Amino acid sequence: MTTLVIGARGAIGRHVLDGLRAAGTPVRASVRDLAKADFGPGIDVVQADLTQPDTLPAALDGVTQVFLYAEPRGAADFGKAALVAGVERVVLLSSGSVLVPWATSNPITVEHRMTEDLLTGSGPELVPIRPLVLAGNALAWASSIRSRRTVRLVHPGSVSAPIHERDIAAVALAALSGAEPQEVSALLTGAEPLTLSDQVALIAEAVGEPITVEEIGEGLAREMFGAGESPEIVDAILHFVRRGTEEGGWFKTTTAERVLGRPPVSFASWARDHAADFR
Ligand SMILES: NC(=O)c1ccc[n+]([C@@H]2O[C@H](COP(=O)([O-])OP(=O)(O)OC[C@H]3O[C@@H](n4cnc5c(N)ncnc54)[C@H](OP(=O)(O)O)[C@@H]3O)[C@@H](O)[C@H]2O)c1
Repeated sequence: MTTLVIGARGAIGRHVLDGLRAAGTPVRASVRDLAKADFGPGIDVVQADLTQPDTLPAALDGVTQVFLYAEPRGAADFGKAALVAGVERVVLLSSGSVLVPWATSNPITVEHRMTEDLLTGSGPELVPIRPLVLAGNALAWASSIRSRRTVRLVHPGSVSAPIHERDIAAVALAALSGAEPQEVSALLTGAEPLTLSDQVALIAEAVGEPITVEEIGEGLAREMFGAGESPEIVDAILHFVRRGTEEGGWFKTTTAERVLGRPPVSFASWARDHAADFR
């Protein structure tokens, strides 16, 4: 009855691991590099890399449920190894973009859709969790806020309803506890529509100091994002942010509240949880 958390050091995976431990569920944590395991004593830790299929059989030995991140390059082999190991249910951190009609062809969506497709019918029951916008995206501003108390934003009026990683993990835990797949796999968002500038203001409140927003055009944003991402991914991000300025371009759902039986954690609360990252 062991549950394996693949990516247990991740922002969401760590909350999944903590939730399983708190519930007293037998749990195993995986990391790609054992030297980075930092779970404290008493945790069964294994090395597993979804892109290295030979690492999977030992990690999956005796496991009946798995939480994992989307990795299309490893999904087919993971499905086969999970079937052989007798895994019954796989809860996959996918993306809400697979449910958004105008996002279907962007490369981020394609990767998540491909992972879902490769795991569907592989043997274990697949339950995708589909958050649309992570509150944690705001951590991309941390370095500039720490050093200059300024954020450069493209389309600062772009709206989304970001969701706290803790709530995403809570929905994943509900899925691991057997909640109705139709409920937990629905489009998952936070409760409040916020512009990017609103998010910065809430971070400023949490930090206790003013933060300036500097609006930039898509050209400069392309240069800034372009340093670490492919042009296709940069296009997808800019398209997504631009849509947030348009009617019907953002989404707010009640999935979290229906699954968790409480409202999602607010962005103000997320900002307080992460204030140290921005100081
Ligand atoms: N940004 C958004 O708005 C958005 C929207 C929808 C969905 N998502 C999804 O959310 C994810 C980010 O979640 P997060 O913030 O919790 O991520 P995170 O903190 O970056 O953690 C990612 C975890 O995935 C693990 N991992 C990556 N590649 C792996 C591999 N090949 N084999 C095994 N483990 C691997 C890492 O393991 P190690 O600890 O071993 O490095 C790490 O623990 C994105 O990747 C995306 O799929 C994001």
